[in-house]
Amino acid sequence: MKDLFARIQQNKGPLGKWAKHAEGYFVFPKLEGPIGNRMSFNGKEVVTWSINDYLGLANHPEIRKVDADAALEYGSAYPMGARMMSGHTELHEQLEVELADFVQKESAYLLNFGYQGILSTIDSLVSKDDVIVYDVDSHACIIDGVRLHHGKRYTYQHNDIESLEKNLIRATKIAEQTGGGILVISEGVFGMRGEQGKLKEIAALKNKYNFRFLVDDAHGFGTLGKNGAGAGVEQGVQDEIDVYFATFAKSMASTGAFVAADKEIIDYLKYNMRSQMFAKSLQMVLVKGALKRLDMLRTRPEFKDKLWRNVNSLQDGLKERGFDIGLTKSCVTPVYLKGSIPEAMVLVKDLRENYSIFCSIVVYPVIPKGLILLRLIPTASHNLEDVSMTLNAFSKIREKLEKGTYKRLSESIAFSVSH
Ligand SMILES: Cc1ncc(COP(=O)(O)O)c(C=O)c1O
Repeated sequence: MKDLFARIQQNKGPLGKWAKHAEGYFVFPKLEGPIGNRMSFNGKEVVTWSINDYLGLANHPEIRKVDADAALEYGSAYPMGARMMSGHTELHEQLEVELADFVQKESAYLLNFGYQGILSTIDSLVSKDDVIVYDVDSHACIIDGVRLHHGKRYTYQHNDIESLEKNLIRATKIAEQTGGGILVISEGVFGMRGEQGKLKEIAALKNKYNFRFLVDDAHGFGTLGKNGAGAGVEQGVQDEIDVYFATFAKSMASTGAFVAADKEIIDYLKYNMRSQMFAKSLQMVLVKGALKRLDMLRTRPEFKDKLWRNVNSLQDGLKERGFDIGLTKSCVTPVYLKGSIPEAMVLVKDLRENYSIFCSIVVYPVIPKGLILLRLIPTASHNLEDVSMTLNAFSKIREKLEKGTYKRLSESIAFSVSH
């Protein structure tokens, strides 16, 4: 019989096999100093484009003060226990009421983490007789939520309404046989490529098919719609979204998340969502911090305005220079280049060391082989100098990529990974 670890010792996984070359630099890098447009990497200042602090709230003095005061008052433990048992407070309830109101839903419920929260939301919304239909490009937390489902599930091609419809027809047949219902899941904004989910088109299919609609709006909340109420509000279909989810990990610059829906559904989730029933309540520091952040979203449009000024100048500048930024309709700014993984590594090193630009690099298997995706996240704390420095650097690295400079330099990496 094989030792359980034998496979792990032989095969480190599609990303793990790059660890020797990548760890500490391309993956698990240490960005130091206060969160902002410029941070320190390997002891050097870099323009930071890899942090989802969209509204620049992470280091805002008012936010820092509320966080610090709450930590002083409550410590990091309070309240202890799950919400149902001993971890429930007035302020948890108040935050839920305010979040529900903000995203135009009857009711909301807090989640400790977005990842487990949406996974558990999906798990509690469906039974084995139900069918899930979801976008093939969904975030890992949606995929893992769907993995818990004991019934049928279908993926539709990314943002492809024709493909969704085909799968709705299949799903309807199954649900009619089992006596179950259908759950359709999309993201409000797809975080890798920045496209908005086609929420309006999906919602319009409700006239023809019987389904409920769940939207993960991690990247839309705070950045799209009036005051940042999200992609559903932006597209004018918030009422058609039956279950709305967003995390505090991006625009809110914190930890935690929430789900919002009709009261009847939230009441059900409160009593059936395993990630919340069997886990400690969200700490008060995070609850008080979220109340303050939500207040900033509601009352201070200048953060969102500044964010979009930066987004537009970065995206327009890239397009003017002929870069392929795909179909983004959000702050997420992907730049697609052609090259191998070793070339991408040399290119990103050049970008960081010689041009002081820090952005995330995404390669196969997250995107197709032969493509390099440099992912830029503009925030309200960036400025026009950051943008012009970055545009100039990008023009230079593209020239080197096309001339084969990175290919030559990457040959030793390619050799050592394949041997
Ligand atoms: C689309 C999407 N959903 C959910 C999550 C998970 O949120 P959290 O970081 O709060 O666990 C993320 C975060 O990366 C995300 O991008």
